[in-house]
Amino acid sequence: MALRAKVRSAPRAPASAVPFAKPVEGEIPRAGLRQLRAMAADCRACPLWRDATQTVFGEGPARGGVIVVGEQPGDEEDRSGRPFVGPAGRLLDQALSEAGLDRSELYLTNAVKHFKFERRGKRRMHDRANAHEQQACRIWLAAQWLRLRPRLAVALGAMAAQTLFGASFRLTRERGRWKDLDARTRALATWHPSAILRAPAPTRQLRLRELVRDLRALAAAMRELRGESD
Ligand code: URA
Repeated sequence: MALRAKVRSAPRAPASAVPFAKPVEGEIPRAGLRQLRAMAADCRACPLWRDATQTVFGEGPARGGVIVVGEQPGDEEDRSGRPFVGPAGRLLDQALSEAGLDRSELYLTNAVKHFKFERRGKRRMHDRANAHEQQACRIWLAAQWLRLRPRLAVALGAMAAQTLFGASFRLTRERGRWKDLDARTRALATWHPSAILRAPAPTRQLRLRELVRDLRALAAAMRELRGESD
């Protein structure tokens, strides 16, 4: 069967099949990551597709058991179609490496799959996705979640953290603490690399150390999952 026909006939799961605190609207498509990527490429559920180059769906091992959720793609991600390849991605790679991890071990994606921007002259300036755009996109994170069935999840920044833990979640208070999302999956939220890059110098160093510490906690949890002890 052609990919598009397969995609249209994909079975669906109820919105309640994922342990997100923020609601998912509609039924969640159940399909392989390749099919889901093709479906998301045609998504018109919010206006962001109009100005973006493409959806930035996500990448990484389907069976690794770990998902890392960022906020939304930036300019370089929009052009390349890959998550975390711009300045925030380079800082994330540095922090992962300091924590003894490599991005190839993780499934990396975002809460919102399209770049949102304002034009200023020739530049495209990042603009935060609003509540409607975040809501409309959540179905794709839910579909990825059902496919990956992660054991561990890391939310980078408030947008991703609030999707998992709810609107009252505050990074400043609850960062770096594992919480059970359901019987299968625990999740931790930490600083978004872009927020670290924007912070003034002393705060930047502190937050980067905290990001590395939280990623070390992820590395330890991954070893535990694989049955290795520290
Ligand atoms: N910021 C994000 O949240 N995700 C990306 O992919 C890039 C920057």
